[in-house]
Amino acid sequence: MATLVSQGQIFLSCYALMLVVLGALLFLILYQIVKMLLLLKYRNQESTANIPPGSTGLPFVGETLQFMAAINSHKGFYDFVRIRRLRYGNCFRTNIFGETHVFVSSTESAKAILNNDSGKFTKRYIKSIAELVGHQSLLCASHQHHKLIRGRLSNLFSMTSLSLFIKQFDQLIVDNLSSWEHKATVVVLDEALKITCKAMCKMLMNIESGYKLEILQKEVARVCEALLAFPLRIPGTRFYKGLQARKRIMSIIEEEISDRRRGLGTNQHEDFLGSLLAGDDKACYEAGPNRQKLLDSEIQDNILTMIIAGQDTTASAVTWMVKYLDDNQEVLHTLRDEQLQLARKSPEKTFLTLEDLNDMPYASKVVKESLRMASIVPWFPRLALHDCEIERFKIKKGWNVNIDARAVHLNPTMYNDPKKFNPSRFGDAESRPYSFLAFGMGGRTCLGINMAKAMMLVFLHRLVTTYRWKVIDQDSSIEKWAMFSRLKSGCPVIVKRVVYDDDGY
Ligand code: HEM
Repeated sequence: MATLVSQGQIFLSCYALMLVVLGALLFLILYQIVKMLLLLKYRNQESTANIPPGSTGLPFVGETLQFMAAINSHKGFYDFVRIRRLRYGNCFRTNIFGETHVFVSSTESAKAILNNDSGKFTKRYIKSIAELVGHQSLLCASHQHHKLIRGRLSNLFSMTSLSLFIKQFDQLIVDNLSSWEHKATVVVLDEALKITCKAMCKMLMNIESGYKLEILQKEVARVCEALLAFPLRIPGTRFYKGLQARKRIMSIIEEEISDRRRGLGTNQHEDFLGSLLAGDDKACYEAGPNRQKLLDSEIQDNILTMIIAGQDTTASAVTWMVKYLDDNQEVLHTLRDEQLQLARKSPEKTFLTLEDLNDMPYASKVVKESLRMASIVPWFPRLALHDCEIERFKIKKGWNVNIDARAVHLNPTMYNDPKKFNPSRFGDAESRPYSFLAFGMGGRTCLGINMAKAMMLVFLHRLVTTYRWKVIDQDSSIEKWAMFSRLKSGCPVIVKRVVYDDDGY
């Protein structure tokens, strides 16, 4: 009996012990769960307090897939931004390619970031762009390095070189336009790309015909198509093809540099490359042994950068301008009147001059309005170098902050009826500061601003004084994979030569 009792006691004690252990385990698990939940709640409260609203998407990929889907759609990659701005407001955040991106669209933010007086920001492009234009391009260079390269390049964009460029460009346009009337249809974008690529290659390296120009035209297009591609170095991918194209362009530029060094080919100062090589050596000599010399690879990256920066942007802008004018016949009428008057002033003159371009007030407004409406470079990317505050939101060091120029250009508080093509809105009064951002602002303003405006004015003058045209495809879809907003249709037109009466009209 005693044995039975002690066995029962032992069983009960073991049972109680098991219960205690299980209870303790349960308590520990529950404690950990509650602790984790509290921690998560606290973290979320801390990390979302005062930071811009938005979604960081899925773990690891963020919203990269949605971004890539927008690039691959005919609404254009800006649609990714447009949708989120509507959902979250004028300042929002997202995650693309594993990094946080904030988009801002007030003129105050644009001013603070683009002026960058406090050195809180630097420019930064997504990986694919940096790899394709080259890490030594002034688009990607660090703040100090950018200063050095920009200093050298801006010497090239003098008024003297602009005057020479206008004459060369006019000649190119006259030659190109003369063939339009013999074609059933002219695709404006295709012609504009040919013309602007030729103009850039001539200006930069004195290449204006032959196999080198053909290769450059083809390969630059491939690089441009890859600028927004997913940076996968796998043969067959868009990005890989872009990298191969870059290699072929680099070898042409390298060959040009080596020819110049051996005294072959073009006179040293006839083009940008010549001036850069000559000027570079002189600047280094004058600055003494501490002056850092531009390496050949730096020159190569920056020649490619200028071809891309100057060709695609201007060709896209010209194409939009033709479409806007076709859609707005009364504007075209006023413009044609101005341009015919100018043409009648000196009919014997062969080519346009800088003075002629300064005498085109209405055409200049047409150019400006086209650039506002098209917003060829829709946003400008920067990197926050320190924690800071924008639009009352916290921005953390290492985040990308993008200035949404298109939103500024279409803001109804800046521009009355912003979707209407109305060149006269740019009256004599100064427009509101930082409301026109087609060429950027501050230390990173477009280096080719005067050249781009000149190209658009020359093109306008020759087109409206030579032809009447009709756009035969009204589709406004955007070309897929294009870094700069481009019409998918390319804007096909049929043209008819303008016939002048005895008064020159
Ligand atoms: C309609 C035509 C053009 C438009 C709309 C345009 C627009 C722009 C914009 C918005 C920027 C500044 C982006 C930023 O701040 O992040 C820029 C920079 C630049 N553009 Fe243009 N551009 C045009 C034509 C040209 C031409 C013809 C050239 C001449 C080669 C050129 C060369 C450059 C260069 C070198 C930069 C970089 C400047 C720097 O980072 O310091 N662009 N462009």
